[in-house]
Amino acid sequence: MAPSRDFEQMWRDLAPVGRSATSGGYFRQPWASAETELRSWFAEECAARGFTVETDGIGNQVAWWSPESASGPGVLTGSHLDSVLDGGAYDGPLGVASALAAIDVLRDRGFAPDRPVGIGVFVEEEGSRFGRACLGSRLVTGATTWAEARELRDRDGVFLGDAVADAGLDPSAGLLSLERVGTFVELHVEQGRDLVDRDLAVGLASEIWPHGRWRFDFAGQANHAGTTRMEDRHDPMLTYAMTALAASKQARLAGQRATFGRISVEPNGTNAVPSLVTAWLDARASSDDALASLVGEIGRQAGDRAGRDGTALTVTAESVSGSVAFDPELAARLALLGDWPIIPTQAGHDAGILSDAGIPTAMVFVRNPTGISHSPDEHADTADCLAGVEALADVLAELAGP
Ligand code: GLV
Ligand code: MN
Ligand code: MN
Repeated sequence: MAPSRDFEQMWRDLAPVGRSATSGGYFRQPWASAETELRSWFAEECAARGFTVETDGIGNQVAWWSPESASGPGVLTGSHLDSVLDGGAYDGPLGVASALAAIDVLRDRGFAPDRPVGIGVFVEEEGSRFGRACLGSRLVTGATTWAEARELRDRDGVFLGDAVADAGLDPSAGLLSLERVGTFVELHVEQGRDLVDRDLAVGLASEIWPHGRWRFDFAGQANHAGTTRMEDRHDPMLTYAMTALAASKQARLAGQRATFGRISVEPNGTNAVPSLVTAWLDARASSDDALASLVGEIGRQAGDRAGRDGTALTVTAESVSGSVAFDPELAARLALLGDWPIIPTQAGHDAGILSDAGIPTAMVFVRNPTGISHSPDEHADTADCLAGVEALADVLAELAGP
């Protein structure tokens, strides 16, 4: 596809990549064809603007706009191009396309940055393939080691190290350096309804709720669905079912979030009591303590029920992200640019990982009319996307300017 300096054209170019003909949602899993195509798209868009793209050994990318006027630590913006399974168009790519478009706006304004402005793309932000959220940014900040990451397996048993190599990347080439990054700003579609309720197109982030993923393995005894008396069963599906209800109830009682969105059943036959049910809990809460207590209570109730069902429960933490408070002074300074509200989010972002690594970080949110996300129904109106581009341009001008 021919690179374009127009946000709407970029958006049209991105639209078919990885889109399901049946649901209209996106399957842009890391180190697979759609994501590889998007990496090339990004490189072409950067090249069309005269920027050289650096792609690291696992597929993270960065390109810098560094005219002669610019020196010192840079301002990095960007997001991710991968999606959840059957995800929306905006989660991730909106931040990347807006970053390119915002630099176009600054150039059209004749703005000469004092500091370099970079555009970054991080791989496997969603953790949809290997289960670890924000894996690309975790690796570049050192929050996760390559030795650990390469042993992760996807649903088909493929090691992450092999998936990266199969995508034509060479992890021994090393990871992106964040040395040049003085500040990070991620623009993202809002994944709730805060901005809708405020009747505003743009906001900034104050914090990310702590959240994580825990694998619950419920082991039982496979047996005949007809001949096994109900009282003789050790049915892990029942333990799981009660656990899903308990998780929802606990989260509601505590004002927090708990979801079982993925399960697998062995052997998954209609006429047999299953031998094993594996279910993944996604839990989020307003503080680290509240999250620990929510997950602990769900685990306790699941364990009690396993005792009654004669099943065995094992709980394994697979991806845990602590609370993130974005630099409050930075957010307050940027809010003045547009009288933007500063709002919390319950969604995870690479911005949280870079903030944890000590980089002053901010997020710009763009209104989502229904608040629906991680779904084909995720949406942002074009006018709001363009308002987001202008807002990001103003933020970059503030941070990279005199
Ligand atoms: C990422 O979008 C997450 O919050 O799961
Ligand atoms: Mn995202
Ligand atoms: Mn997401």
